[in-house]
Amino acid sequence: MEDSVVINLRSTYFKYSEDNPLLIDLDFTLSRGDRVGIIGCNGCGKTTLFYLIMGLLRPHAGEIEVFGKKREKEDDFVEVREKIGFLFQNSDDQLFCPSVREEIAFGPLNFGKRGKEVEDIVDESLASVGLEGFKQRAPYHLSGGEKRRLAVATILAMKPRVLLLDEPTLGLDLPTVEKIVDILDKPGLSYIIISQNREFLKRTTSKLYTFENGALKTVD
Ligand SMILES: Nc1ncnc2c1ncn2[C@@H]1O[C@H](COP(=O)(O)OP(=O)(O)O)[C@@H](O)[C@H]1O
Ligand SMILES: [Mg+2]
Repeated sequence: MEDSVVINLRSTYFKYSEDNPLLIDLDFTLSRGDRVGIIGCNGCGKTTLFYLIMGLLRPHAGEIEVFGKKREKEDDFVEVREKIGFLFQNSDDQLFCPSVREEIAFGPLNFGKRGKEVEDIVDESLASVGLEGFKQRAPYHLSGGEKRRLAVATILAMKPRVLLLDEPTLGLDLPTVEKIVDILDKPGLSYIIISQNREFLKRTTSKLYTFENGALKTVD
């Protein structure tokens, strides 16, 4: 059924420049409830795939369909960015507010939420990644692992049902990885996780792909 397709890439072709050997040519479908992992060598195009889905890069040919609509122009991607929780590979690309509280409140405020509801979301999101007591801290003073946890919390605050997570366990300690595993265990989520952590992918995903010559290949 068409409705069950969340993300559909059809012959999506992308190349950074003539002198960059990476050429992406993809056919890929994420259906509702799919839990997909992508593992693969450095520079094989994993992050580029996420940028194409989020509209941060545009394909030279082919089609990108998200939530049943073809996405081509900047405006088309507004809804995609609102509804998909996207964790950047580098947390510094995700964080831009002067305090942890504002960082998490930003999304919900943008969605029109106010007052106690926002404060409750901030508290809940921080608790889910073990950052209670961090509200007044400056994001740029946090350690790498703390930034990663905060970046995850900003995404959870939006309560997305579709997630694209680019190396979510990078720099995280084991108890926090366990928290992420629990978060991903919630019913009703669909996601793609890029990771080099096979053990983590084994526990959180049911389909595993790798990149080979710019295309996704199933790993058994
Ligand atoms: N903005 C850019 N301009 C040119 N080349 C880039 C750019 N971003 C990434 N690349 C190159 O494209 C390839 C794929 O990058 P990326 O998708 O980030 O790989 P990864 O699979 O490690 O996430 C790499 O060789 C990288 O150096
Ligand atoms: Mg990457």
